[in-house]
Amino acid sequence: MDKLNILIAASEVVPFAKSGGLADVTGALPKALRALGHDVRVVMPRYYIVDREKYNLKLLEGPLGVPMGVIGEEWAGIYEGVLPDSDVPIYFVENEHYFGRKGLYDENGIAFNDNDNRFIFLSRAAMQLAKKLHFQPDIIHGNDWHTAAMPIFLNTVYAHDPDFSRAASVLSIHNLQHQGKFYKGAMDVLSVGWEHFTADDLEEYDGINLLKGGIVHANAVNAVSQKYAQEIMTSEYGWGLERLIGHYGYKLFGILNGVDYDEWSPAIDDYLPAKFDIDNLEGKKICKRELQKQFNLPQKDDVPIIGLVGRLAEQKGIGLLAEAIGGLLEMDIQIVLLGAGEKWAEHYFSNISANYPDKCGVYIGYRNDLAHQIEAGSDFFLMPSLFEPCGLNQIYSLRYGTLPIVRATGGLDDTIENYEPYTDNGDGFKFYDATASALYGTVKWAVDTYYTDKEGMESLIRNAMQKRFSWEVAAKAYEDVYRYCISQRFGA
Ligand code: ADP
Ligand code: GLC
Repeated sequence: MDKLNILIAASEVVPFAKSGGLADVTGALPKALRALGHDVRVVMPRYYIVDREKYNLKLLEGPLGVPMGVIGEEWAGIYEGVLPDSDVPIYFVENEHYFGRKGLYDENGIAFNDNDNRFIFLSRAAMQLAKKLHFQPDIIHGNDWHTAAMPIFLNTVYAHDPDFSRAASVLSIHNLQHQGKFYKGAMDVLSVGWEHFTADDLEEYDGINLLKGGIVHANAVNAVSQKYAQEIMTSEYGWGLERLIGHYGYKLFGILNGVDYDEWSPAIDDYLPAKFDIDNLEGKKICKRELQKQFNLPQKDDVPIIGLVGRLAEQKGIGLLAEAIGGLLEMDIQIVLLGAGEKWAEHYFSNISANYPDKCGVYIGYRNDLAHQIEAGSDFFLMPSLFEPCGLNQIYSLRYGTLPIVRATGGLDDTIENYEPYTDNGDGFKFYDATASALYGTVKWAVDTYYTDKEGMESLIRNAMQKRFSWEVAAKAYEDVYRYCISQRFGA
């Protein structure tokens, strides 16, 4: 395929700023596309936490003008760096007023009340920057609501701009729950014309819905797994947009995320007290002992550890877990949990740990090293999500021989194969109903397998560790979608 110029923007990118899997994806996909020969440029905000010295960022000459409708023209400083271990340029949009803050989206769980302007600014800055760099994109690729305005801009304010004359657009939906819904006044900042403020376009309940606009205007929409692409056309998972998404079903894709195995492989993982691989699992035992030590749990080899890492959000099934955990802790198991998010859950699980100090360890906070150590030292990894567009932790778990116990939804269903005791097929344990009793029953099944079916466990671990979800495969699938977009917009 011909080399494409691809402009990707996102609100978070690993390693510069991360709140969840979105950052893992936007840090890895551009490199995989680059490896296929494309010219990829990434754009994200210069939040306070983005360390200019550490990443050796260089200020580009001359400020960038960003039209913000009724607010007028705003100015951004642009810093340039590269994605680690690559030559992919990444540009950081600096503006003290919009991004000179500690949090990405909120402070202490309260969303900033100017998030509309902040991310309209980012989206518009990405477009303006392409012009400044004389980088004429073939593809502009937005991610989630934060940069969903890019496809809208392409069809409106840049519709006749020669710098964008060959560009088509893609929007990836990593999470449909968050849509960027704001007061309609944001239309005057977006300045794409009030004729777009209609029910089949940007308007919803007399407000503006940026993700909805992105879905309408993008040439293709990618939901990060096949299953999730199907699910978001149903009322159970559509968050009110199911009919609109169904209407645009012809341009909806479900490319599964890959995994950066340079970062997540037990044989080369520097966060671990001992390394291991499929041929020698001795190191995993050391990781388990160290994990038990870190969480002040009894250091025993022959008790299964169930690990959890993630945002403590309803999406992740923390309600089901809260209901089931009392029963789970009656089993002969240990639980370790790393997460932060909803305050009630932080208190609740900390309290459980205080009541069961020998069985349950909880760390409230965000720690990448500990996330790696939990993946490595646990026997099982629990993800009881109510919905899960893709999910990355279960895929990391497979690589570490830590068997996922998941609710069969979205990417969890697409990536995990249920254990079949008579054939020794499978690499995890799945349940279907979003109930505490289904969660309990499936954990019990996994724990029973651990105690009574040694051969089965060995097969499961082998199957899990052999499985691969490479970014190269995903990037090739994105190439196909990009090609589709271009033909869709300009004809074959
Ligand atoms: P989501 O994007 O919905 O949060 P994913 O499974 O796609 O879920 O990705 C979550 C990513 O964030 C993983 O890389 C996971 O290790 C990381 N993560 C989540 N919570 C924490 C935490 N408390 N500490 C360290 N890493 C975390
Ligand atoms: C979102 C989803 C998660 C997905 C990630 C990356 O945050 O919740 O399931 O893996 O984006 O696409």
